[in-house]
Amino acid sequence: MHAIATPLQPDPTQDIPFYAPVGNECTLFEYAYERGLPLLIKGPTGCGKTRFVQRMAARLGKPLYTVACHDDLTAADLTGRYLLQGGETRWVDGPLTRAVREGGICYLDEVVEARKDVTVVLHPLTDDRRLLPLERTGELLQAPPEFMLVASYNPGYQHILKSLKPSTRQRFVALAFDFPQPEIETDVVARESGLARDRCAALVSLAGRLRLLKGQDLEEGVSTRLLIYCASLIAAGLPILEAAQATIVEPLSDDDDVKYGLREAILASFG
Ligand SMILES: Nc1ncnc2c1ncn2[C@@H]1O[C@H](COP(=O)(O)OP(=O)(O)OP(=O)(O)O)[C@@H](O)[C@H]1O
Ligand SMILES: [Mg+2]
Repeated sequence: MHAIATPLQPDPTQDIPFYAPVGNECTLFEYAYERGLPLLIKGPTGCGKTRFVQRMAARLGKPLYTVACHDDLTAADLTGRYLLQGGETRWVDGPLTRAVREGGICYLDEVVEARKDVTVVLHPLTDDRRLLPLERTGELLQAPPEFMLVASYNPGYQHILKSLKPSTRQRFVALAFDFPQPEIETDVVARESGLARDRCAALVSLAGRLRLLKGQDLEEGVSTRLLIYCASLIAAGLPILEAAQATIVEPLSDDDDVKYGLREAILASFG
């Protein structure tokens, strides 16, 4: 199983990805970067974690290697392996090793899904040693000051078997994300979807009401991502109620009673 690595080389001709700061997260990221500290971002799905990391990597002008962690991901998927190429065995760096060698940012998404052998590799890299041992090649890489490890996960889905050990957690500076405040979320939805701001404001205020259902009927509140989908379909010409059905009601639940409740709330706002 190979890791999904997305090297996003900064391109000075391309715009830095749009990200609307919600608090002090940009400053905190920059300080952590300067000080060589790893960063852990926790937050619900679709609240801007990935976009934030993309933005910060671009702003710092560093290549970004994103790895989606899952329970089949091995330490070798991150560090690298010997591969047979044209009759020869050749060592190929994994995304973590490349980020360390190049002085880039390695972003481990859904890090709680990673197996124990993966977290073991992270330990010497995420404390003051900043070392990546490559047992297979016999190398011991010292991470340069430009290297940063960022990890994220959604505490909402966490269950006891899939939590980070304290010895792993306590190696990171941690930042809690949530959905942006209504004013900011409205800006984000309008900018990403192209829908008029006042119409986006109505969707954001609906989202605020629906998010109150989290925990009772819903596992997760409606994400900023879904609001952007909804606004994009409305901007494309789909009637509001149809757009909301397809981007809010159906993605949030399979339960008929819950879906009924969501539709009622939507009708009360837009019916
Ligand atoms: N503060 C923000 N500034 C700009 N865009 C934002 C912000 N918050 C959310 N978004 C938008 O919301 C959408 C989802 O964001 P993103 O993909 O970063 O979520 P995520 O937290 O990484 O979700 P997941 O945990 O599911 O991967 C993107 O289109 C992103 O632009
Ligand atoms: Mg993400």
